[in-house]
Order: sequence, then structure tokens, then C-alpha cells
Amino acid sequence: MDSFSYRNGELYAEGVRVRDIADSAGTPCYVYSRFTIEDHYDRLVDAFKEIDPLVCYSVKSSGNLGVLRVLAERGAGMDVVSGGELYRAKIAGVPLSKCVYAGVGKTDTEIRYAISEGLGATNGLGLFNCESEEEFENLAAIARDMRATIRVALRINPDVDPKTHRYTSTGKKETKFGVDLERARRFFATYGHDAYAKLEGLHLHIGSPIYTVDPYREAMTKTATLVDELASDGFSIRSIDLGGGFGADYESSQSPLLKEYAAAIMPLAKPLYDRGIRFILEPGRTIVANAGILLLKVLYTKTSGEKRFVICDAGMNAMLRPSHYGSFQFIWPVAPGVDMTPARRTLDPQLPGTVVQDVVGPLCESGDFLALDRMLPASIKRGDLIALFTAGAYGMSMASRYNSSPLPAEILVSGNHAQIVRARETFATLVEHELKPTALHLAGSAATGSIE
Ligand code: LLP
Repeated sequence: MDSFSYRNGELYAEGVRVRDIADSAGTPCYVYSRFTIEDHYDRLVDAFKEIDPLVCYSVKSSGNLGVLRVLAERGAGMDVVSGGELYRAKIAGVPLSKCVYAGVGKTDTEIRYAISEGLGATNGLGLFNCESEEEFENLAAIARDMRATIRVALRINPDVDPKTHRYTSTGKKETKFGVDLERARRFFATYGHDAYAKLEGLHLHIGSPIYTVDPYREAMTKTATLVDELASDGFSIRSIDLGGGFGADYESSQSPLLKEYAAAIMPLAKPLYDRGIRFILEPGRTIVANAGILLLKVLYTKTSGEKRFVICDAGMNAMLRPSHYGSFQFIWPVAPGVDMTPARRTLDPQLPGTVVQDVVGPLCESGDFLALDRMLPASIKRGDLIALFTAGAYGMSMASRYNSSPLPAEILVSGNHAQIVRARETFATLVEHELKPTALHLAGSAATGSIE
């Protein structure tokens, strides 16, 4: 599952003792395992090898350049949803000819930037994943203006229930994503012959995380039907991007294996692949979630009424998922001792000496928690280190500076070595963009916004 394991009652990241990382880098910090990232990527490629997909790692799940470089070296393309993510992919050494660009709100500046960097160019594999009629018209107008020809896939909304949190369910008709199947045929009829924006693919992403394989089967069935309908309208589809959404093990063995997802998708995808259609996948979580932990220090413990609180040096500022989605993240001390080493990551590891506790952060909100009513060792005390597991996806990438909390450091472990891949922010870097107010030259007036 991943390379974070207890040995003699102490947590290790690959060959490195996690306590040593905390002593050297401080807390809070994210710790990633290079081996786990590579292993998950390789397993995915292997599971889907029959359709030889272009794997475009979803940068939004963890955009650290250290993580992106590991995947770039493996040959991954990237799924980006903003100019900022595109910039990250480029800096990490990913050819933009292997990037796909989705998102319902691409700005003109971002589109121009992406085209100028070669995204969607006809000699590459990348695509603009277009989400609406207005966006297509804008893409085509900008491409024409730049005298560029770009390749475009239509993001379809197959109206499939992925049975996941409503905030991350994206393939139902009532969500803002893509174009519904009825409009998809009309879309091709209207825009399918544009000279600058070549509409040639279909894209879908139905939600995240998806813990059953049926939603993929249903979405793929609808997509295959649409491919045939479009063929009868005279449009031949060259690529299908199935998006991401494969699960991760927040609890031990919670997620289907990648080959189980593949087994559901393959019978529908393979005949299309054999007809010359290229497949793209956009996994994020399934690659990096289990490849990262968040390392925290216990600042204080206290009891209020019946409740025991473990107060850590970061909370929802560093890891938003529990408070935002009510999601489960396994939490356990870094050095619990042999007797208190959990056999499984689960709500209650069934060990003696545990009591119900809330794990909270330092922020001034009751919503600032990492775990509520969790069975944890009663022995947890001030100064202890604790690890929040399966934190590699949507952890640091959703972190904020709320309460002027400097962003955590990020560490990449490989074997017996550790590298700081993002330095901890300092108080000085927190305010660096505010130190020197500058005159704002207001459009259409001689006035300036500065106070002289
Ligand atoms: N492709 C598109 C177009 C997406 O919007 C996403 C995720 C992915 C691929 C990657 O999905 P993955 O393989 O990572 O499941 N913040 C939430 C998850 C939001 C997912 C947004 N889109 C969370 O913490 O659970």
C-alpha cells in the first residue's frame, strides 16, 4: 500500500526514521515517499497496459515540484487546471505536448499562455479539455488570433452518480462540469469543423474518490455510445480521456485495486482502442495520497467535560479534508512503542490503553479539527509527534495561511535519504507581498490608488 510502516514501535518513511525528519525539519511538515509514488504510477500503467494510456498525473492533488519531477522522470504527462499548474508542469520538465488542460473557468491570459507553450499543438498528444460552448468559441477565437491550431476534447457530463461526497461529485448533470450528452452531439455539429480549434476528443471526470467500479462502467458505456453516434454524424473521435477518481487507502485495504478498476473499464475501452482511439487517464489521489503523511507535534492536551483534546501545531490550515468533507484520515503517534503499534489503519485499532479524543489544530475556529471522537492512546502527551496518514493528495495543495500560519515544509524521502522539496515559510515570507504598497494606476483616470 505504501512505504510508511512501524518498526520496533517507531514509524519509518522508507528507510528513514520519521522522528529524525521532525528533529531536523521541524513540524508541521509533509513527508512523501518517492518509492510509493513510483510504485503506484507503475501499477497504474501496468493495470491499463492493454490500452496503453497516456497517464496525465493530476497536478491539483499534489503540485510540489519534487513530486512532479519524480513522475516526469517516469514519463508521465500532466493534467492541469490553471496557468499556475501549467507553469509547475513546465518547470518540472514535463513536455507540455503531454499535458491536458481542463477547468470550467480558463482565463484568456491562461489560454494564451498555454497555446504559446505548445499545449494542444497538433504535433503533440496534449489537449484543451473544453467545458462549454462559450469556452469553445473563446478558445477558437484566441487560437485564430494567435494563428495557432489547437487540439480540443469536449468534456462530457455523462450524468453518472459516482457515489462520493457531493462536493467532489462531478459527473452528475446538476454539476457545473462539462456538456450533457444531449448537447454533446449538437456541440460537434456546431463546432466540429473549426479550422483553428480541432475538436477531436472526449473527456470525462465523474468524481473523486470513487470506491466502486460500476460508475466507471456506466460512464464508459455512455461514452462508447456517444462515440458511435458521433461517427454516424461524420465525426471520428481520436481520444478518450477518462479522468481520475480512483480511490486510496485512507483505511487499510479500503480501495479497489487498480487492476479491479481496469477490469471494469477494459471490456468497453479495448474495442475502442483497437479501432485506433487513444486513451488518457488523469489519476491524482491513487498515486500520491498514500505516498504522503503530515507530521505534527502535540502542543498541549486538555480535558473539557468528558472530552480529551490533543492540540497540534497545525490543523485545517495544513490539512483541510476532515473539516471540509468530514473525511477520515488515520492518525497515530510516531513512536507509540511496540505494544501500541496498530495492525491496521482504522477508526479504532482495538488496542488497550486507548481513549476517545479529538485531534485539533491551533486555529481560532471550532471547525479546526483533524479527527473527532477517535480512539487514540491515552498516553499521548505534550511534545509527542503524531502522523496523519494518506495525506499526500489534497493535503498541501489545499493548505492555507489562515491565522497567518506559515505553510508547512515538504520533505521527499528516497531510501535512506531525505530532501527538503519545499522550505518552511517564515514570518517574513508571509508578509513579503504586503511590505511595500505601490501606486495603482487606475484605468480610465488620472488618479492613482496610492495615498501619497
Ligand atoms: N481530472 C479532473 C478533471 C479532476 O477534476 C480531478 C480532480 C482529477 C482528474 C483527479 O482526481 P483524483 O484521481 O485525484 O481523484 N479535494 C478533494 C478532491 C477534489 C478532486 C478534484 N478533481 C479531496 O480532498 O477529496
